[in-house]
Amino acid sequence: MKMPTDVIREEIRQHGVISFARFMELALYCPETGYYETRQDNVGRGGDFITSVSAGSLFGELLAFQFAAWLTELRDADCGLRMVEAGAHDGRLAADILGWLQIHRPKLFSEMEYWILEPSANRLAWQQETLKIFAPRVRWFSDFENLKLKTQNAKLAGVVFSNELLDAFPVRRLGWNAREKQWFEWGVASAGEKFVWARWENAECGMRNAELEAVLPDGYTIETSPAAENWWRAAATVLTRGKLLAIDYGFTAEEQFSPARLNGTLRAYHRHHVSDDLLARPGEQDLTAHVNFSAIQLAGAAAGLKTETFCTQPQFLTRILPAAMAEASWVPWNAKQTRQFQTLTHPEHLGRAFRVLVQSR
Ligand SMILES: C[S@@+](CC[C@H](N)C(=O)[O-])C[C@H]1O[C@@H](n2cnc3c(N)ncnc32)[C@H](O)[C@@H]1O
Repeated sequence: MKMPTDVIREEIRQHGVISFARFMELALYCPETGYYETRQDNVGRGGDFITSVSAGSLFGELLAFQFAAWLTELRDADCGLRMVEAGAHDGRLAADILGWLQIHRPKLFSEMEYWILEPSANRLAWQQETLKIFAPRVRWFSDFENLKLKTQNAKLAGVVFSNELLDAFPVRRLGWNAREKQWFEWGVASAGEKFVWARWENAECGMRNAELEAVLPDGYTIETSPAAENWWRAAATVLTRGKLLAIDYGFTAEEQFSPARLNGTLRAYHRHHVSDDLLARPGEQDLTAHVNFSAIQLAGAAAGLKTETFCTQPQFLTRILPAAMAEASWVPWNAKQTRQFQTLTHPEHLGRAFRVLVQSR
């Protein structure tokens, strides 16, 4: 079994400099040995970083409450109702959502199916283990093409969603060449045992802005994520009726160009430490960049979706509360729920950078 470092080194030997996007793809998703292939427990307190899911079950329960309301609005759809998750990792969010629905919305639970998009056999096995008690209600597909094939292009009504999926797609890292007034793509080369940055080839940047470029310093770096935009477009195309939702940390295109972020937003996470050394330890550390929600929104709009909500995670979760609290099962909150809500919404925890985008058809 080849480790990411060996596979990357071999590609560089064969092709010369490779794009950073390719480096990131191999570091995270190299078959069998990439970061997300080998580490079921990388998310959570004992791993490299925490997510809203690993903060406890409240996040999934609030989402379940909201998704159930959305699905109920779709009851007149002339096809089955679905919740479709991508980036399900070890299946914990799915378990939290299905667990809540089974108890509090038994009728809907027995009518709908929970679908998971999972390209990796390893992660699929983790999810099947976590979700075995819900087995009859869960169905897996490798991606949207596979979903269309297996369902014979049947209509899809419901909610398609992800938590921290878009930030995990490989990004292109673009730098500004101030002398030539031209964007270039950062690539990766090898030097002895190490991987090093190389100014690679000239690149097109979809977001050109002459006024800004007049003042950008040489080497100013941003990321773009065509892979995330393509994924969103595919999701939008498959959705016949309902909502497409992403929860992730990110910003708008306007917020992306900040003088404080000369080197972009890409970061490595290793055992709860943030590092700028993106090329170190491929396969052993997470690599992630802020999501450009403007670009994602445009991809959905081009496929005919309408933006319903773009807000912060605290705003989104807080808006769910009044209706939830009107149901006896939510009151009174215990100390654990209060603590989890604070973690999800407090600016010093997960409340600062996380945004929620909801588009609909
Ligand atoms: C940062 S983790 C988030 C895990 C989980 N959603 C959570 O919030 O705890 C990103 C997950 O997305 C998965 N992923 C990446 N590309 C994917 C794709 N094209 N389809 C489905 N999952 C993908 C990764 O393997 C990883 O498990």
